[in-house]
Order: sequence, then structure tokens, then C-alpha cells
Amino acid sequence: MTNTINQPASNQTYSIEEWKRGYDSQPNEYDYEITEIEGEIPSELSGTLFRNGPGLLDIGGTAIHHPFDGDGMISAFSFQNGKAHYRNRFLETLGIDYLDGVLEPGDAFAAHPWIDPNCDMDDGAPCMVNFRVDPGLSSKITLFEFAPDGKLLRRHSHSVPGFSFIHDFIITPKYAIFFQNPVNFNPFPFLLGMKGAGECVEFQPQKPTTVILIPRDPNNTEVKTFSVESGFVFHHANAFEKGNKIYIDSIAYQTLPQVQPNSDYKEVDFDRLDPGQLWRFTLNLENDEVQREMLESRCCEFPTHNPSKVGRDYRYLYIGAAPEDSGRNAPLQGILKLDLETKKHQLHSFAPSGFVSEPIFVPKPNSTQEDEGWVLTLVYDGKKHRSTLAILNGENLAGDPVALLHLKHHVPYGLHGSWCDEVFVEGN
Ligand code: CO
Repeated sequence: MTNTINQPASNQTYSIEEWKRGYDSQPNEYDYEITEIEGEIPSELSGTLFRNGPGLLDIGGTAIHHPFDGDGMISAFSFQNGKAHYRNRFLETLGIDYLDGVLEPGDAFAAHPWIDPNCDMDDGAPCMVNFRVDPGLSSKITLFEFAPDGKLLRRHSHSVPGFSFIHDFIITPKYAIFFQNPVNFNPFPFLLGMKGAGECVEFQPQKPTTVILIPRDPNNTEVKTFSVESGFVFHHANAFEKGNKIYIDSIAYQTLPQVQPNSDYKEVDFDRLDPGQLWRFTLNLENDEVQREMLESRCCEFPTHNPSKVGRDYRYLYIGAAPEDSGRNAPLQGILKLDLETKKHQLHSFAPSGFVSEPIFVPKPNSTQEDEGWVLTLVYDGKKHRSTLAILNGENLAGDPVALLHLKHHVPYGLHGSWCDEVFVEGN
């Protein structure tokens, strides 16, 4: 991987100037039916896709330092009867939600919940699992599990040695799994107001990652840890148990550059960054051995799959990916489908002018096959300076899009989103 540094890019599939325009502010709020459509919106697709991210990336014309500092904006795409409606709003703060007393003022609540589709502890009912981490010299990880009506079912805390920088986690029926990335944290410049918190975190690539397995059953307090060479992990794709082994699929970066104060996030030299790559880690619960295998060398991020397979053995994974398998970092310009059984790949590329967001898999109603559904992704067109919602065929991803819904404007690059079966805009 180190040989990727300082070599000129070959087969560059994009214009960096077109890529950068996706970070232009979108100051307007819209509310309209989408009418410029190629293909046909499936009439069975009913519900709402939410996307979040920054809407304003400048303050009075002065660019902000990091997209996370931008004013938050939510986009909602509502689908009903073969029609689609777009609406975006900046976030008015209505008040702070403490989840009926589950949280206290100042408490953290992670941005990456999972829904266990049928929880053994709840007679097969679904439940939502999330966590908070209180980092320090040792870190306290608290697990929360909620019933579909929002009632807290289980809450328990566990102390683990060392500082923790944990963005995401993953679940199986028995465990909540955390990757404790090897980082140093020097809080003093942050406490003195000299640096942002992100600038005080330093990745230690020569040190191993600790994988922490916390039993989801509060009666079982036996936390297991494994030491693994993973690089830096933000996002996990999935995990599952099989026999005495746990399988975990995650996106790992060999190295991560230190966040520099006052640096411009748009002046990215992609060639100088290691790509995110998909790895499978196999933990043997009997002999504590760990194996790792690279599943995809192409630069990729934002994995998704059929939500009925969370924590279960699964076959199909969809992920934002670079269109070329160069082993280099590059903007995500396509969606890749991986068949983990046959190892076959399918790529739907939007290069050279399209830049994709996190894909979301929506199963077809009454589907029987795991890949029977639609893959939704918001694509920024750097040439036309507008965004398009692409509906791709989950079974035949590389084929023609099911539909392309062109917006009248662009939506700045966002981060995550979610699908909800409810339709919030009436009258479509
Ligand atoms: Co995330």
C-alpha cells in the first residue's frame, strides 16, 4: 500500500474541480414534486428516504474549515404511487430530546444505531441497539436496546482499558462489537482552546486494534477482547456468528493523516491518502485466533445490505466505490455489489462527472431473495452542478438504472441517511 504514495494517478476518472463544486452551499429550501425523470419510479416503492449533511459550507462567503462545521440540512425524498416529492429543510432546534430520561444533559448518543431484525431476547421482535462511549484513560461503553415503541429494554455499561475513538459498531444476536482504533489523544491543546478535538487525535498505525465483544445479554458480563491488525476503521458492513467463530466485515484504512489546523478539506490530494478497503476479520472464540482477509481492494466506503440480514450470515453487500480498482484513494463514483458467496462483482459507475453518496438498500415488498430490492443513492453531477437520485436494481446492479430523478439544483455532499416506510408528504 505504501507504494501508492507519490506516484502520479493513472486513469483518473474525474475532474477535481467538478468534485469540489459538490461542496458549494445550498442556501435554498425547496418543496416540489420531481418531474424530470428518466425511467419509471416503481409503484411498490413507498416511503421516505432521508439524507443528512451540511447545507451551508460558508459563513458570509468565508469557507468553513470542515464540512462537519456546516449548518445541518435534511433532504427528504417521498415516494408514493410511482411519484416522488423532494423537500429540504435546515434544522431548527426544537429542543433537546433526552429519550424520556434515558439520557442526561451532556450525554452522548452514537450516530450509528442498528436494528436487530429479530432479537432472541425479545421473542423475535425487532429492537434498536445503540451505544455511547465515555473516553478517558479507560473508556466506559454503554449499550442501549430499545423496543419499536421507543421503550428502553436494556442498558448496561462496561469499562475497557485505554482511550477509545469509536464512530460505529456492529451487532450479532449475542454481541455488540467495537473496534478500539489505536490512537493517542492529547487533550491539552483542545482544553486550552488552541485546537479542535479532531486535531488532538493521532492515529498510531504501528499499534494493533483491540476488538471488543460485549455480550448483549445484561446477565452476561464476560467482555472478550482480541488484538488485530486492522488499520483505522470508521464503518462496519456487517457481522455474524457461525459455530465458534465471529465474522466481521469492515472498511479499514491502512493509515490516516493527522487533521491539520486551518487546512482546507477541499484541497485533497487523493493520491496521498490510503484507500478505504473492505476486510473480513474472523475471530475464533475457542482459541482466540484472528484471521483477516481483504474482500475488496478498490477504494470503497459506506456499505449497506438488506436490513433483514443485520447480524446474520449474508450474501450481498452494496458499497460506494471508486470506478477503477487502482488500489488508490479516489472519490466514490459508483456503487459496487459484492456477492460474498461467488465473489462476483457488479459495478454501476457514474464517472466521469457523477459522485455518489452512501447507498441505501430498500427490499421489495414480499421479496423472497436477499438482493430483491432497490439501491438508492444521491449522485452529484459535477458538470451540470445538480443532484440526481438514482434508483438501481438490486438484482442487476450493473444494468440500466430503474429510474433517475433529476433535481432542479444540487444537494451538497452528505454523510448518512435512512429509509422509512412512512410517507410524510401527502397529495402525491
Ligand atoms: Co458514519
